[in-house]
Amino acid sequence: MKTKYQWLSIVSISLCTAALAGCAEVPQSSANKGAVTVKPFGQTKDGVAVDLYMLRNSKGAEAGIINYGGLVIFLKVPDRHGKLGDVVLGYDNLDGYLKDTPYFGALIGRYGNRIAKGKFTLDSKEYTLAINNGPNALHGGLKGFDKVVWDAKIMANPEGPSLRLRYVSKDGEEGYPGTLSVTAVYTLTEDNALKLEYAATTDKDTVVNLTQHSYFNLAGKGDILNHEVMIPADKFTPVDSTLIPIGELRPVEGTPFDFRKPTAIGARIGQDDEQLKFGGGYDHNWVINKPMRQLGLMARVYEPTSGRVLEVWSSEPGLQFYTGNFLDGKITGKGGWVYQYRNAFCMEPQHYPDSPNQPNFPSVVLKPGQVYKNTIIYKFSVQE
Ligand code: BGC
Repeated sequence: MKTKYQWLSIVSISLCTAALAGCAEVPQSSANKGAVTVKPFGQTKDGVAVDLYMLRNSKGAEAGIINYGGLVIFLKVPDRHGKLGDVVLGYDNLDGYLKDTPYFGALIGRYGNRIAKGKFTLDSKEYTLAINNGPNALHGGLKGFDKVVWDAKIMANPEGPSLRLRYVSKDGEEGYPGTLSVTAVYTLTEDNALKLEYAATTDKDTVVNLTQHSYFNLAGKGDILNHEVMIPADKFTPVDSTLIPIGELRPVEGTPFDFRKPTAIGARIGQDDEQLKFGGGYDHNWVINKPMRQLGLMARVYEPTSGRVLEVWSSEPGLQFYTGNFLDGKITGKGGWVYQYRNAFCMEPQHYPDSPNQPNFPSVVLKPGQVYKNTIIYKFSVQE
């Protein structure tokens, strides 16, 4: 009798139905030659087993996802010479993630980014959240979706090797109202994109803002100041000194926040600008030029030495672009790399920070009977 791990490691997605009863939930396709392998990745402090799911497409690209926190722990994509390299920061083992992490690779929820003073009012009732970032609540609380164990299931998906994670967040968990049932489907497509599809339903009015918090470095080493970034946004949401939006949608024109033409991250990051000072660099939300809920390009990043290109696509209205300003050399990550200031950047498609307290921002309220949906695609390619 084979163990779960032996079975899964020899199973390719196209054989998924035969090997795992009930596994296939989307039509099979012989075009999909990818595979998913799974192996144990340690235990949480409460003794819950955590697994590493490795998604590999027929081009050889690989994504490693663990069912603790839905973390993307590695993402190997080719450079312009076809050489695979890991483009995300993280740890070599689960222990690192359990002890101390600035949300490396994390699935963020129930509410991505900050809520001012950890308070919001919904249906005339005030809710109080844990304060975990200066005077504010950040990234879903003390034990957000990035610190819980998700149910995992390998999926048959014609687009590529695919994993579905599920989590039910209790009514009142981390102070948020309503039982929230969440699914997150991760698919590594044949065109080297990691596609994330989030869905959620609730049994009471609540607020939801899910995102992905991978720290990218397309060269796989050094700082990210030479990476060229393009963000198709005419406006951004300026913040106060605690990084809470002040409610304004400010034109990027004439500011260091204008990335409408590709510009190196380092070109203006040190300018004498109040907003850059508040963030210690870029740590802001851009208002992407596209209709609400429509999948569109949010950013394109090019790294000249490796030739790697990352395109970020999403159905969300905003993009939090963060330049690793709080990395300070205190973390030793994968392969002994000491993560220094600005060794990585995050591109987090989401609703705007503090939306529950900002009536002029697109709503983040989810009601019973509605389905929250959010697609995020990180697509990799190369440029000569
Ligand atoms: C926030 C940063 C924060 C980082 C890690 C980003 O989403 O905007 O301010 O330091 O996450 O927690």
